[in-house]
Amino acid sequence: MSLIKDAKVAVITGTTSNLGINIAYRLLEQLPPHENITLIVTSRTLPKVKEVITTIKQYADTKLPERRTGDLEFDYLLVDFTNMISVLTAYYDLNKKYNHIDYFFVNAAQGVYSGLDWIGATKQILTNPLDGVTNPTYKIQEVGKKSKDGLGLVFQANVFGPYYLIHKIKHLLSGGGRVIWISSIMSAPKYLSFNDLQLIKSPESYEGSKRLIDLMHIGTYKSLKSNHDIVQYLVHPGIFTSFSFFQYLNVFTYYGMLFLFYVARWLGSPYHNISGYIAANAPVKAALSGDKKKKKDKYSGLDQDVKIGSISDKRGKESLEFKEIDGTGNEDVVAYLEDLCQAWDEKLKNQIVNTRQP
Ligand SMILES: NC(=O)c1ccc[n+]([C@@H]2O[C@H](COP(=O)([O-])OP(=O)(O)OC[C@H]3O[C@@H](n4cnc5c(N)ncnc54)[C@H](OP(=O)(O)O)[C@@H]3O)[C@@H](O)[C@H]2O)c1
Repeated sequence: MSLIKDAKVAVITGTTSNLGINIAYRLLEQLPPHENITLIVTSRTLPKVKEVITTIKQYADTKLPERRTGDLEFDYLLVDFTNMISVLTAYYDLNKKYNHIDYFFVNAAQGVYSGLDWIGATKQILTNPLDGVTNPTYKIQEVGKKSKDGLGLVFQANVFGPYYLIHKIKHLLSGGGRVIWISSIMSAPKYLSFNDLQLIKSPESYEGSKRLIDLMHIGTYKSLKSNHDIVQYLVHPGIFTSFSFFQYLNVFTYYGMLFLFYVARWLGSPYHNISGYIAANAPVKAALSGDKKKKKDKYSGLDQDVKIGSISDKRGKESLEFKEIDGTGNEDVVAYLEDLCQAWDEKLKNQIVNTRQP
């Protein structure tokens, strides 16, 4: 149970990422100032949880002291979505401590990268620089990687792990809770084969996982609303600097990449937001968009049947885009995920978990 009264409760998976932390900043800025907030940050490790809480607290204390009058409280979840016991533990923790959750951002994600194809990168960037920094095909991804649970690793981390957690906490989200799934502009139908829904044979499992998220959203948002009064949105953050990709770059390639991002933006790419703060625009606007029936401002009642994107102009002025989604095959994806949930409910039904072990 939240220690502060009548708090809005928000969970941001992968809060330690550039997008995750900026979702937290923008939520604190955009929720009504008097609102009490419980922010549940997540990571796979305790040191990162501590670090991110300190950083968000500093931001609130230095940037928003006059703006916010409501209380701010932090809690954390240690969860690894590639481990079903860990996902179940996260459910137990949330269920034990909270009787409702207002916002659930599915932001955590991983790819299984083994490096960069430097020759391919040079070729793609020289022949079509804009495409090279918008739809990069030179990140090498490992094929065939499975989790210890025997599931496709990227499928479990990005799709099934969070889907199963939401399946378990629907009762906490019901009554108007918002679920915001972070997709990508790189989620075209070509990245997913229906013979390989766990993305085990795919050389583009990261992009395939985003396509699965798009289809899962199209196949579930209506029933979540009618059966549970949960409002689900699908968003993309455009392209921004990621904390995690630094490991493959040195100082020259990092600044080279950043330079190309700015060139792309200057050439008219709306997707090169570069900053995590701009990238977090669509997720937070979707979470806080008002009731569709009460059209107070232009963001009241954003549509759920589109992908809402964070975009910006040449000068970095932010706005939103609304893109239709090709929903072909969404029923198959949802049926597959639901069957898998039932199978894991059965496997985990006698599982006793020790909570809060780092
Ligand atoms: N960067 C871009 O340009 C871009 C473009 C399109 C979409 N996106 C999407 O935006 C979101 C954030 O991207 P980012 O680049 O800011 O992220 P990132 O730097 O790659 O960080 C990934 C986050 O996910 C968490 N995470 C990774 N694997 C996990 C697992 N197995 N279980 C639980 N948590 C896990 C990490 O938490 P810990 O390490 O603390 O455990 C970390 O906070 C992702 O959904 C990504 O796909 C990014």
